[in-house]
Amino acid sequence: MAALFTEKDEALVKESWEIMKQNIPEYSLRFFTIILEIAPAAKNMFSFLRDSDEIPHNNPKLKAHAVKVFKMTCESAIQLREKGEVVVGETTLKYLGAIHLKNGVIDLHFEVVKQALLRTIEEATAEKWSEELKCAWGVAYDQLAAAIKAEMKEEA
Ligand code: HEM
Repeated sequence: MAALFTEKDEALVKESWEIMKQNIPEYSLRFFTIILEIAPAAKNMFSFLRDSDEIPHNNPKLKAHAVKVFKMTCESAIQLREKGEVVVGETTLKYLGAIHLKNGVIDLHFEVVKQALLRTIEEATAEKWSEELKCAWGVAYDQLAAAIKAEMKEEA
């Protein structure tokens, strides 16, 4: 499956990340808004959402999580193309596994975040959006999510 990740797929992911990078506050907010539309209960999982009725604008922690998800997925795409697999540094992976386990994240949440990620990119890329682009981000995200989930199972 990873072998099917082409140069074009990587280029598509990189190109859309460049578009998203230009407006991190807006796309981070959209990303979390969509997460909560799909799964309202996820609100209580995030320290920066728990205590307010509205999704905070320009919250550094909210932006940090959104950017991590966008950026690490993009890095996954680059690795998939270069190495045919996603390699996350062991320390980073251990940290990611531990923090998500501690926060009560389950497999289903990864699906919610995937849908929110894809919809945010769809909005950001507008007329550049395509099935191919969706697929490229989807594959890159799935590989990264699988690596985090595997680490969470080891921690548990
Ligand atoms: C925290 C990345 C998916 C929920 C974090 C942190 C990182 C990260 C790097 C630490 C942030 C920091 O130290 O400031 C990722 C990546 C994901 C992913 C790369 C997918 C590929 C998810 C999913 C959920 C989730 C699916 C559940 C809906 C959380 C929560 C925290 C967290 C609740 C703690 C945030 C806080 O309250 O400050 N994530 N995450 N993450 N993540 Fe994720």
